[in-house]
Amino acid sequence: MQILVTGGAGYIGSHTCIQLLNSGYEAIIVDNFSNSKPEALKRVEQITGEKLKFYKTDILDQEALIKVFEENKIEAVIHFAGLKAVGESVTLPLKYYQNNIAGTLVLLEVMEAFEVDKLVFSSSATVYGEQQCVPLNEALRVQATNPYGRTKLMIEQILQDVYQSNNNWSIALLRYFNPIGAHESGLIGEDPSGIPNNLVPYITQVAVGKLSKLNVFGNDYPTYDGTGIRDYIHVMDLADGHLKALEKVLSTRGAEAYNLGTGRGFSVLEMVQAFEAEIGKRIPFEVKARRPGDIAVSYADPSKAEIELNWRAERGLAEMCRDSWNWQKHNPKGYKKITENQVTS
Ligand code: NAD
Ligand code: WQD
Repeated sequence: MQILVTGGAGYIGSHTCIQLLNSGYEAIIVDNFSNSKPEALKRVEQITGEKLKFYKTDILDQEALIKVFEENKIEAVIHFAGLKAVGESVTLPLKYYQNNIAGTLVLLEVMEAFEVDKLVFSSSATVYGEQQCVPLNEALRVQATNPYGRTKLMIEQILQDVYQSNNNWSIALLRYFNPIGAHESGLIGEDPSGIPNNLVPYITQVAVGKLSKLNVFGNDYPTYDGTGIRDYIHVMDLADGHLKALEKVLSTRGAEAYNLGTGRGFSVLEMVQAFEAEIGKRIPFEVKARRPGDIAVSYADPSKAEIELNWRAERGLAEMCRDSWNWQKHNPKGYKKITENQVTS
């Protein structure tokens, strides 16, 4: 069965492609490589021993997307393609609204034209904004606090409207918490361009010597050690969640949001300690002011996904740290430089 994966060369998309291929699906990738490299797809093929079909295509390019649908018999779409840097979205909101929202509209129109009505969408826990209590469940009122988050929120609303207008659609809105880790082979992983915005790639780049020290953004939050608490989830667990959501949309109708998180939070300092234990050396850090827009605590109530998708995160923090570090140490320059352990097909 052919599944279109937009943004399939990216961090979460490439890991999900592995699980799709391992489960016998055919993955058709559409990616403009604005935040990824074709090398990631070669490595997915290397890991799985399966071929991927890929189009270097922008989802905003309707004609090109139509060609993809004409040339393949697509049964469902997993839609990862999007820009995701919160800070950049504040300075360049139009870029985010254009790419994420207009891109999704083009995709939906083409899907509709080809009567493909099954969709798994990459939403984000960022749609919860700041809430009074945790864990966060899907029934809470959503309220994004920055343009990136608003693109996710608006797309969720657009997708609900699409389903209301035509109940044949089947849509899963997956609200990811904080994805980290990498495939256990160390061949694929997160490859941020420039200085990482997110905690874990920053820590591993300090450990590998690319950055001198971690900045801990605030130690005066109302948490047990004063630093922010997040629900870190192994990217392979996330990939498995997409397979379960795909099964769901292939077999039912509706438009439902699901949290993909572990249900457990760790503080920034706990993450530093966990990485120090894995790597066997100190991660130097300095406490700085809070990062604007950050919240104190975020972790999921993952029970809806467990009940309705039959999915739950299986991999613990030690495995997340091991796999993040395994990827980073074998690929200190990300996909740019291929070490002798890796094949360059
Ligand atoms: P990523 O940047 O690694 O992957 C996104 C991919 O989409 C990239 O390969 C990029 O080149 C591609 N892309 C972007 N715009 C495109 C366009 N117009 N046409 C074609 N391809 C395009 O990001 P990721 O971490 O893998 O995230 C995947 C999705 O999950 C994104 O939508 C992101 O917003 C969402 N998400 C990510 C996180 C996270 O922390 N990584 C958390 C919650 C939600
Ligand atoms: C985690 C914790 C920081 C970096 C972001 C997006 C969110 C989602 C996932 C896409 C916080 C602290 C971080 C650093 C630090 N993406 N930190 N020093 O902010 O929870 O979520 O990525 O949807 O939308 O906002 O993740 O990894 O940036 O931060 O102290 O150099 O680490 O303050 O407490 P966040 P993060």
